[in-house]
Amino acid sequence: MTRFSILLAAALTLGIAGNVQAKPADFGKTKDGKKVQIYTLENENGVTAKISTLGATLVELHVPDKNGKFADVILGFDDASGYQGDGNQYFGCTTGRVCNRIAKGKFKIDGKEYTLAINNEPNHLHGGVERSLDKVIWKAKEITSKDGGKGVSFTYTSPDGEEGYPGKVNFTVNYVLLKKNTLRIYYRAKTDKATPINLTNHAYFNLAGAGSETVLNHMLRINADKYTPGDNTLIPTGKIEPVKGTVLDFTKFKKIGARIKKLDDTAALGYDHNYVINRKKGQKIALAAILRDPGSGRKLTIRTTEPGIQFYTGNFLKDQKGKGGKTYAHRSALCLETQHYPNSVNQPNFPNTVLKPGDVYESTTVYAFSAD
Ligand code: BGC
Repeated sequence: MTRFSILLAAALTLGIAGNVQAKPADFGKTKDGKKVQIYTLENENGVTAKISTLGATLVELHVPDKNGKFADVILGFDDASGYQGDGNQYFGCTTGRVCNRIAKGKFKIDGKEYTLAINNEPNHLHGGVERSLDKVIWKAKEITSKDGGKGVSFTYTSPDGEEGYPGKVNFTVNYVLLKKNTLRIYYRAKTDKATPINLTNHAYFNLAGAGSETVLNHMLRINADKYTPGDNTLIPTGKIEPVKGTVLDFTKFKKIGARIKKLDDTAALGYDHNYVINRKKGQKIALAAILRDPGSGRKLTIRTTEPGIQFYTGNFLKDQKGKGGKTYAHRSALCLETQHYPNSVNQPNFPNTVLKPGDVYESTTVYAFSAD
């Protein structure tokens, strides 16, 4: 054995060579010819995450089932062109500057009114049309976290007025894959003018594997006793009400499909609701939700610093073709989007989303995978 192979064998045994980080690969081009790259993170258990510079988007996430068999559990496309086509419904992207809805695309800060694009009649959704955070190219660099995870840090500077929002904003999104089959996403923003910020990741999960027929057989627990009821355009009324006694109650594990029919004829067309996460006083990171697929045994536990979580059952999925030619049917995946409540910028009684110059926006969400 050479000295190098002895060192390599020792590193493998100790798990040091786990957390392998591949160099970025080519992921195609944007419509205006810019190069898109994709980064691969892999931990010592073989859990793999792939993230692209277009929208700092989570493209693949491979996790084991109860027998150790891996599957990619999120929806996505094989290359950048898929992400720019009509089939893309914010799959896995970093969503903002303000995720979810802003009523009628209007808000006021310090007496000045701002007008945004209406892309979800009659409201503004997920940061706009052409230059929302999911549509721009982010700069990427490899990082190592203090707790031993390997990751990629994405940065993007959004100019003042982009998509109608005030202020030049510097965004950072760090994806870190940890030993315990955990993916952590950390968001940071700084602005030079007061401006609303609300960031989330819009991954669509199916724990039986992306492309499996349905998500209605998954079991879900949401750590929320309350939710924000909405009007018929999904804008919160401003009230905060208990889930108890409604089909929205997931305080104990419930099968997602058990009561969904009752929502078929509502404006949401299924589950598409913001929950108020239970949090003890002073608790920074709280349990948001636990999702289980009884067939594969895969389990996802989500923890976050955010006050809310939007639970959306893929009611608008439309049989589009995704990765490896798989079809994504109606309700074949779901989103659990940690965030501040929708339309917070216009609801003074909701937690604040306006970032001021000199302050730092920070948010962390942790996705932990296991199987039993
Ligand atoms: C929203 C849905 C919307 C979907 C678009 C979700 O965050 O709550 O209403 O249709 O995003 O992909």
